[in-house]
Amino acid sequence: MRFDRRVAVVTGAASGIGKATAAGFLKEGAFVALVDINRDGLGRLASDLGVGRDRVLLCPCDVGDEAQVVETVKQVVAWKGGINILVNNAGIIHQATLLDTTLERWNRVIRVNLTGCFLCSREVAKVMVAQKTGGRIVNVSSIHAVLSEPSASAYTASKGGMEALSRTMATELAPHKINVNVIEPGATYTELTVPMYTDSVKKALMERVPLKEIAQPEWIAGGILFLASDEARYMTGSVLTADGGYSMDGSLPGARYWEE
Ligand code: NAI
Repeated sequence: MRFDRRVAVVTGAASGIGKATAAGFLKEGAFVALVDINRDGLGRLASDLGVGRDRVLLCPCDVGDEAQVVETVKQVVAWKGGINILVNNAGIIHQATLLDTTLERWNRVIRVNLTGCFLCSREVAKVMVAQKTGGRIVNVSSIHAVLSEPSASAYTASKGGMEALSRTMATELAPHKINVNVIEPGATYTELTVPMYTDSVKKALMERVPLKEIAQPEWIAGGILFLASDEARYMTGSVLTADGGYSMDGSLPGARYWEE
């Protein structure tokens, strides 16, 4: 029970990695504020997670909207008196080449993925600083914060920005014992990636990912829970990669290194 009676806020909790993370926190004793723009998804989630309504707070909220974020954080504090953990997980992608990316689409992605992380972190950090009990912030980035991703310029920029923001937050919040860390997931089966994982993409991933698997959301949630736990107390400003070895692999495609 690593999170017994701790209060965790998970954004983008209605689906995929956020849902698996919320389930993990609940299994280990936490109270969880489930934040998502998808009201229907949140409604279904409460019964999917199979815990008493006293253990979760449903928070319909657009993380890119300052007033909604301020109100949501107030509601969480009114619910359990404080916040110990924040997971900035809400994210969207827009697939278009640079030449076809409109300003409206660019702004939409940056608003959710980067501004959302900023707003939630700022409001939750205010609570954590006032509590004087420290805290944990985990930001869900992507290996594409540091690797290119064709047809995802706004997405890669938003995740790169999130990682830069995380380092500054980690430095500023360290005196308050608030640890800020990043997880970089690789390919993971979720609602976000269903349209992207065509047969040819899946085949290419199987060839390219050293561990030869696409992740389940729970496998990424495991890393997030670790960063939110006491076991990671000496980690801040760090990046944990969970990508089946994809981004470290420098082997040459087609080369047979072990032949006689
Ligand atoms: P998902 O689409 O399954 O879940 C994202 C959730 O965020 C949804 O429930 C959605 O309603 C919510 N959301 C979207 N806009 C929101 C807003 N404005 N306010 C509040 N909630 C909002 O996606 P998935 O795959 O679980 O992604 C979670 C995070 O993991 C994202 O930040 C994504 O960039 C990141 N990631 C995912 C990878 C993958 O392969 N699935 C790989 C690398 C990173």
